[in-house]
Amino acid sequence: MPKIEIDGKPVEVPAGTNLVEAAKLLNIEIPTYCYHPGLTVVGSCRMCQVEMEQNGRTSVVLGCNTPAADGMKVITTSEKVHTLRASALEFLLQNHPLDCPICDDAGECDLQNYYMRYGLHDSRVNLLDKIHKHKVHDVGPTVVLDSERCVLCSRCVRFCREVAGVDELGIFGHGMQSELMNPPGKRLENDYSGNVVDLCPVGALTDKDFRFKRRVWYMERTPSVCTGCSRGCNINIDWEIERRYKDPQRRIQRLKPRYNRMVNEWWMCDRGRYGYHAVDAPDRLTAPHTRSETNGQGALTVDLVLQRAAAKIKAAVSKNGPKSVAVIASPHSSNEDLFLLKSLFVDTLKVDTIDINVSKEETGKQDEILMKADLTPNRRGAEEFGFHSGKNGGMSGDDILSGALDGDYDVLIVVHHDLSRLMGPKELAKLDQRCDYILYLGTHENGTVPVADDVIPLAMSAEREASYTNFEGRVQKTAKPFEPRGQARDEWSIWQDLAQLLGIPWKYASAADVFDAMGNSVPSFKGLTWEGLGNSGKMLAGVPEPAYRKVQSSKPLPAY
Ligand code: SF4
Ligand code: SF4
Ligand code: FES
Repeated sequence: MPKIEIDGKPVEVPAGTNLVEAAKLLNIEIPTYCYHPGLTVVGSCRMCQVEMEQNGRTSVVLGCNTPAADGMKVITTSEKVHTLRASALEFLLQNHPLDCPICDDAGECDLQNYYMRYGLHDSRVNLLDKIHKHKVHDVGPTVVLDSERCVLCSRCVRFCREVAGVDELGIFGHGMQSELMNPPGKRLENDYSGNVVDLCPVGALTDKDFRFKRRVWYMERTPSVCTGCSRGCNINIDWEIERRYKDPQRRIQRLKPRYNRMVNEWWMCDRGRYGYHAVDAPDRLTAPHTRSETNGQGALTVDLVLQRAAAKIKAAVSKNGPKSVAVIASPHSSNEDLFLLKSLFVDTLKVDTIDINVSKEETGKQDEILMKADLTPNRRGAEEFGFHSGKNGGMSGDDILSGALDGDYDVLIVVHHDLSRLMGPKELAKLDQRCDYILYLGTHENGTVPVADDVIPLAMSAEREASYTNFEGRVQKTAKPFEPRGQARDEWSIWQDLAQLLGIPWKYASAADVFDAMGNSVPSFKGLTWEGLGNSGKMLAGVPEPAYRKVQSSKPLPAY
């Protein structure tokens, strides 16, 4: 491990660490444009120049492509370094347009930030003499390029080739006329296209979904986890509800990937990135529904529905035993939801007609980069609680449905599943007739809602604190930036209220409370605590941390 000194401070770093990364360990900033820790080093922007003394000789080197070597003394604060940075900036800004007031990147732009820190020069080029390039270039379905703002750092080109494994962007032309473009006949349309916007250090690449929607200083950032598939990429939710007159139907403004070395590194897929629109979609369930009379008890509330559900369950169990109740649970539910669901129905009421698995489950595209075909975030967690067809001698969701069609159950509870994907209209009508009481809990209108006697709206993962176990066995938690829509509730709290109505005195105050109880009683969660999950999650008890894997296409294209 080489020992070096940066601005007089000693630091020991793993062999091969470059000076930019070594400086980060000391909280010293070496500014960069073209360098990104997840991409190959090209050393083209010259922004990272530092002075370096080794073996009695002093020289200027690029921080990004100089590995630390024992005995090096690096200086990042000298007059000379400041002049070099200012020159690199002036060169990059020479033809840059004066777009900051209308640029989406304003407020989080490295060109703005470094200019304020290291530049502050007056332009030597008359505004009218600047070279003009394509201003609104539609490079693909998700991203727009403004070539005048581009500093030709090539991060976006390298991302496409090295991580996504596609040749969809390139730099063409010479000298001052060089320009980022799609290669002939190509568009930026890979499944990870949004990452180039995150990578762009300036406002050259903007996201069509976010463009001109909000200034970045009006948003709050909450660290969370994507629940779009069983990978569980770490994300930041950028949200804003203060200026509601703008668009009250869009509390989340955008999702950004959050670094987790063992899950997604710096990236996320477009499916997850743009999936947040479901949170405030017009078909969200925001209030309970019923097909029964409310008996003059005023407006329908979740509590009223729960009272009716408790009465139905009590009557069914006392008349026909626990086999008269069936539950089709869901791998979309969190660990806390499934723990309380199992404690209530399996452990207390002795219901064994319960499972999560159904045929014709919606699946998605899978690749070797991040995307998993399983579009549920918690199948692994559900399996740890024993919800798995065949395990514990249990029934699958399909078995339960055919039993329901035969009139085997008085009460059928369905969580999240859209039954119209599993059966045709005739069968649905038959199910409606054969079950005395169907309770549905979900987040959106779907084909189950019309056959349910009662419907309870559930909060989505972006509106709640909850934990999910990804396909590898990593338990990670989501955060709650804002309240759920309307009367939507946390699923675990629904099971707690139902349990209380059935005489079980649970008093969990939060998801953290439920999780910690789980840590004390479920073997695979043993030793895990809510607090201990931190921002990057923990593996289930007894499940080893998987080996590090670089997140990239298995067939990266070579750098140009
Ligand atoms: S568009 Fe952005 S990321 Fe791509 S080369 Fe230009 S400045 Fe770099
Ligand atoms: S790979 Fe899965 S978890 Fe990751 S961003 Fe995409 S949908 Fe979300
Ligand atoms: S960051 Fe080192 S040359 Fe660009």
